[in-house]
Amino acid sequence: MDKGILKQDTIKKMCNMAVEMRGRSYTPYSHFRVGAALLSMDGRIFTGCNVENSAYSVCTCAERSAFVKAVSEGARGFIAIAISGGPEDGELQYCPPCGVCRQVMAEFCSGDFAVYLAKSGDDYIEYKLDDLMANRFTPKNLERS
Ligand code: THU
Repeated sequence: MDKGILKQDTIKKMCNMAVEMRGRSYTPYSHFRVGAALLSMDGRIFTGCNVENSAYSVCTCAERSAFVKAVSEGARGFIAIAISGGPEDGELQYCPPCGVCRQVMAEFCSGDFAVYLAKSGDDYIEYKLDDLMANRFTPKNLERS
């Protein structure tokens, strides 16, 4: 799939999927529900939601849940992710990805990877990974010169 031609209806579909995936979140502790939809370069969309645990540090974010599903299904290159989050009894936010999820993006995505913070299919803000995480540590740093 060509990175440059991400169509409006694909973005809208991803944002709607992210909103819908909040319904699958397992959030008995924070009651903060997050959904994600990740578009791979081969055209597949992988969804994810946050999955919490009574041992709090074991919680998995929605974005990482989507990345782990995608990579385990053989996807390696990614074009964009839509994220939707907010309290279960409140309004949706333009929910930014946490630092750990940004580092996971840095592992698999280039600087022009698009991140849509979505309240709905028609209401979202776009960032690039370069904006969200400048001067990030990537696999390139481990290369020997
Ligand atoms: N959360 C995500 O799923 N993604 C983020 O990038 C921000 C935080 C989740 C983790 C936890 O289950 C809840 O939101 C509150 O932090």
